[in-house]
Amino acid sequence: MHERIDELVAAARCELDDATDRESVEAWRVRFLGRKSELTRILRSIRELPEAERRQTGKLANVARRGLERALDSRLAGIPPAARTGPAVDVTLPGYPVRLGSLHPLTQVLREIRRIFAPLGFRAIEGPEVEWDRYNFELLNIPADHPARDMWDTFHVKDDLRPGQILLRTHTSPMQARVMEQVRPPVRVIVPGKVYRYENRDASHEAELIHIEGLAVDKRITMADLRGTLTYFSRAMFGPDRKLRIRASYFPFTEPSAEAEMTCHVCGGGGCGVCDGSGWIEILGAGMVHPKVLENVGYDPDRYQGFAFGMGAERIAMLKYGITDIRMFYRNDLRFLRQFK
Ligand code: DAH
Repeated sequence: MHERIDELVAAARCELDDATDRESVEAWRVRFLGRKSELTRILRSIRELPEAERRQTGKLANVARRGLERALDSRLAGIPPAARTGPAVDVTLPGYPVRLGSLHPLTQVLREIRRIFAPLGFRAIEGPEVEWDRYNFELLNIPADHPARDMWDTFHVKDDLRPGQILLRTHTSPMQARVMEQVRPPVRVIVPGKVYRYENRDASHEAELIHIEGLAVDKRITMADLRGTLTYFSRAMFGPDRKLRIRASYFPFTEPSAEAEMTCHVCGGGGCGVCDGSGWIEILGAGMVHPKVLENVGYDPDRYQGFAFGMGAERIAMLKYGITDIRMFYRNDLRFLRQFK
């Protein structure tokens, strides 16, 4: 009996070495350790052996069984999972294509705007989207009940302690006041960020937008600096042939206020469908920082002047890429997004 057990173990170990995949290992297990295997049969028959033999043979058979079980485990561990679970991998087949994502067109435009303004010394900073009325309006020379408040349809945040005081910022201009409160001139910042408007959404209106504010304050800053900066920007963004013109406009926080227009990037100024035949395209609002605003943040308007501008990232992107519906930016339609590699 002892000899038979030794033989069995030797044969089993020898055959296990040849079992290289999950199926053959399983077949081996059934054959040598299964319920109908010889070893199991031997173990079952032990209690029928004479007392003297029983103990020794039982021990030997059990040791043999445990040894084979351990060999089985380590054999399985050595078989790679793919080979264990399925058909062999054909490494000569072409791989699955890896789809790389791409940056959202607005992200691309924002990065480009930062890149354009950086060499002029404008640092990009960000500010809170939930804002005090004081920063969004009051410090910007828009007191309560000022008719200019109608320029911004505002989402208010419900707050019983301070009713009407907390809102979703309607523009990035509040950061003008926040920055100037914190630092002395010279100031040069751009402020990209989300803004919110209580709007009915359509092809040219969104309730959620991205604005980029610009602010420069120093001694002897003039409208010519504003003009030069914006010309530089429009050429860097839309091409070297852009001309810029500035038309009078109104914003409560600038005096004078301006609308900057550039020669149409599609027709070059001759007039086409994109510019409604005028040859000019409005790109942003701007102006010289209102002396009241400077005073409100503790700057002396006799010593310091500044210019400011604000633009919509969506508008810039629509012009740059010829997009006609602003809602495309937020629809997450991959057919749209994949065009901006
Ligand atoms: N904040 C203005 C808006 O929401 C845009 C703007 C206009 C910003 C003139 C400025 C500026 O800084 O000088 O429409």
